[in-house]
Amino acid sequence: PDLITVQELAQRMAMRSTDLIRELMKQGQMVQANATLDADTAQLIVEDLGHSVKRVSESDVEEGLIDKPSADANLVPRPPVVTIMGHVDHGKTSLLDALRQTDVVAGEAGGITQHIGAYQIKGPNGDPITFLDTPGHAAFTAMRARGANVTDIVVIVVAADDGVMPQTIESINHARAAGVPIIVAINKIDKPGVDSTRVKTDLLQHEVQVESMGGEIQDIEVSALKRLNLDGLLEAIQLQAELLELKADDKRQSFGTVVEAKLDKGRGPVTTLLVQEGELQRGDIVVVGAEWGKVRALLNDQGDQVKVAGPSLPVEILGLNGVPEPGDQFAVVAHEARAREVAEYRQRKKREKANAATAGTSLEQMMAQL
Ligand code: GTP
Ligand code: MG
Repeated sequence: PDLITVQELAQRMAMRSTDLIRELMKQGQMVQANATLDADTAQLIVEDLGHSVKRVSESDVEEGLIDKPSADANLVPRPPVVTIMGHVDHGKTSLLDALRQTDVVAGEAGGITQHIGAYQIKGPNGDPITFLDTPGHAAFTAMRARGANVTDIVVIVVAADDGVMPQTIESINHARAAGVPIIVAINKIDKPGVDSTRVKTDLLQHEVQVESMGGEIQDIEVSALKRLNLDGLLEAIQLQAELLELKADDKRQSFGTVVEAKLDKGRGPVTTLLVQEGELQRGDIVVVGAEWGKVRALLNDQGDQVKVAGPSLPVEILGLNGVPEPGDQFAVVAHEARAREVAEYRQRKKREKANAATAGTSLEQMMAQL
């Protein structure tokens, strides 16, 4: 059934919730701001107060936001999205730096990754591969879970000198929960005296049986620092990607997921999106979680402006009216009015949720407010 909180009902009638609560008390009803009313009760109250009622249910607003795929779906191959995961300091960012010939690690505070980086490079056969870099620090579980949920393949990086550690295991579990195939990259094999066999036997205890131990999970020994066997890793990724036969429809309405979002002093909300279907274009109107906007600029991972972003491409967009949350979905819509409607509806839902979470005011506290 449709429910609405007293607070929300008051907001929609443009009155203070304390005033509404007082009105209800006059009618002999003792309710708190976070109490929920069913639609019929709410309608009576609204009409009593001389307002007219227009019921809008959840399904009305969200309905049809994302088009059903057309029957003659125009599926074309798309690049794999590969998330790099593992324990802190095992060399995830270094590995991506080596693949991209960049030096992101040097710019990180304390050499600790605290966000999800998104990049695309060309693999050995010339086809693009999208990479997401995740933090290994224990505090960033949610980011790892998110990273595993938007990806096609997870590369678990294990430092040969440190072995299987708590966030190695956590990462394996995220990949499993997301139903995503794993590739194991044993890193830092340049270090003297390291024993990669120990890593492999330790992995066995977590039901990860790698190929070199007779299993089916590809394992590659690499050194990010000495740039050893990077092609081997990329080839393993390409092989796994081919098995998955990844496809998308680049002609349909564009939608995808927020990888990261922040407020930039000069540029306003800056949102990194991973496009899943269709092509996102400059000038498109988008709903992104509870925010919306007109895409003013699209920037690739080099910071260069691009006009369109197709499936599996990570892009930064400018032009949203607020900062969405990582993991939010985005969708292109036809008009600003539609975008605003959905975003405002979701804002309301968010407020209700937040209110419900902080609810629990006692009757005494409530009376004191009146
Ligand atoms: P978090 O993002 O904080 O979880 O760390 P990370 O996994 O991204 O590790 P990062 O790339 O920051 O590397 C951690 C340290 O390991 C740095 O000092 C790197 O120089 C070093 N390192 C990374 N790869 C190698 C390698 O192949 N060999 C050696 N010897 N050192 C490496
Ligand atoms: Mg890192």
